[in-house]
Amino acid sequence: MTKRAKITVIGAGNVGATCAHWAAAKELGDVVLVDIVEGLPQGKALDLRQASPIEGFDSDIIGTNTYEPTADSDVIIITSGLARKPGMSRDDLLAKNVQIVKEVTQQAVRHSPNAILIVVSNPLDAMVYTAWKVSGFPAHRVMGQAGVLDTARYRTFIAMELGCSVEDIQALLLGGHGDDMVPLPSYTSVSGIPVTSLIPRDRLDAIVERTRKGGGEIVNLLKTGSAYYAPAAASVQMAEAIIKDKRRILPVAAYCDKEYGIGGYFVGVPAMLGRNGVEKVLEVPLSDEERAAFNVSIGHVKELVAQAEKMLGQ
Ligand code: LAC
Repeated sequence: MTKRAKITVIGAGNVGATCAHWAAAKELGDVVLVDIVEGLPQGKALDLRQASPIEGFDSDIIGTNTYEPTADSDVIIITSGLARKPGMSRDDLLAKNVQIVKEVTQQAVRHSPNAILIVVSNPLDAMVYTAWKVSGFPAHRVMGQAGVLDTARYRTFIAMELGCSVEDIQALLLGGHGDDMVPLPSYTSVSGIPVTSLIPRDRLDAIVERTRKGGGEIVNLLKTGSAYYAPAAASVQMAEAIIKDKRRILPVAAYCDKEYGIGGYFVGVPAMLGRNGVEKVLEVPLSDEERAAFNVSIGHVKELVAQAEKMLGQ
């Protein structure tokens, strides 16, 4: 008998609590929800657990303010940090969230030296880098969630446009989790049919633009924070691919050195996720236009990482 997987979710805000919800509901394993606010993770964990007889899932779910109960986690999802308010970019969160992500990573990896880290905090690409630096983990055990969310938005908008099932849309997106992310219509299909033959260019351009600003659209509607259902669903899909060793190919903020000539940064690329974390990064040919857009996005990621590095050095 193998033991159940153990998933720690750090941060019991909307994203963290929703990750716990989905991970438990899918019976991915036992879930530990961590937060510094006294009572918050305990209350949400207990409430979620009390939903289990109704929804029919068996999962131990506990909330805690300390890291001992997280020991020997298989997957750790880091959601801690401030979220955006209207008018803020993800980058505005950098200074605060570097410190928060640094601290929670240090504590978490001390108790789970073999875990795989999925970072969700923003600005995403710099936060993954921060978690990697602080953890000392090999790069394949550290990754960021962004592309699954961004492609889910993109797929949603395409399905809305065509009036078809979201399940039939396959799509790829590259780059950082900023407004210069690069959705790729050339790698987007509807049940194998190239999307470019189903949606006219101007409509597709509008969908790409809406996808890029998809996070901001939700922030402007909510006014008090950022999206959480889709970010959490995306994080749990990645955790599932790892825990079940599915070897799914998903857009992931993965460490790329030689890959795409990136030179040692985490950026959104197609990656295979399995029990070792990022099993490999897949390199796909890009048109000149796509490569140029990818370069702009990578440049932005590098700037953010340079700022994070400075803050970490202090
Ligand atoms: C978003 C934020 C959470 O894209 O980054 O919704």
